[in-house]
Amino acid sequence: MRKQIAAANWKMNLTYRQGEQLLDDILNAKISLKDQQLVVFAVPFPYLIMVNSEIADAKNYFVAAQNCYTKKSGAYTGEVSAEMLQSIGIKFCVLGHSERREYFAESNQMLAEKINICLAYDIAPIFCCGEPLSIRESGTQNSYVEKQLKESLFHLSTEQIRKIIIAYEPIWAIGTGKTATTEQAQEMHSYLRSVLAKQFGDDVADELSILYGGSVKANNAKELFSSPDVDGGLVGGASLIAGDFIEITRALK
Ligand code: PGA
Repeated sequence: MRKQIAAANWKMNLTYRQGEQLLDDILNAKISLKDQQLVVFAVPFPYLIMVNSEIADAKNYFVAAQNCYTKKSGAYTGEVSAEMLQSIGIKFCVLGHSERREYFAESNQMLAEKINICLAYDIAPIFCCGEPLSIRESGTQNSYVEKQLKESLFHLSTEQIRKIIIAYEPIWAIGTGKTATTEQAQEMHSYLRSVLAKQFGDDVADELSILYGGSVKANNAKELFSSPDVDGGLVGGASLIAGDFIEITRALK
């Protein structure tokens, strides 16, 4: 079975102490994960080592960075490299979140470079894609998201694409409380899987986890995750509330 993933995206929230407390509250719930279920905490850079050590004994729990730079090393003040992440034991990195695309001008081409460097350091990218409201309203969301995948992922080998986790996050649903309907999510996920199947083959596409993100909450996760092509969620706001994130984790297939 495909990996089913509850990924918390803390974004730029919580102090160090608050992060520790949240993590404690979640870990104390001792959610027992099935083999195919993973919980990932995408946290700010200064908290990566702390979270990684807190979850060290918890089976199927992982930590992720929220970004990394395209270059190996050098004079790039303020940036963090994939090699640095690898050197502190990080195995996952969120790439191409819509907030980074919008506020930090990350293009599909730049994301292709970030994907490459993460893979080179054995870090699995959680690659975000998704359309803005205007595109959804014009009905061209499929080709818009397809282009994001093509320009950032289609240069990969079959072996490399297997390491990628995809997160479909319609921008109009992020932080707005306006969740995509189960039908809208399933329709896009199944479309993306068909696009991936054409490029990489049915078997590979069938193995890839495609997460849904955009106002996933404790009260809608079960229904969203019940769709055959929705393999869990990338959760922002609700991942900051222990009880809510625990419920979301329990909703995984
Ligand atoms: P949200 O954020 O759950 O607060 O909508 C999701 C995301 O941006 O990853």
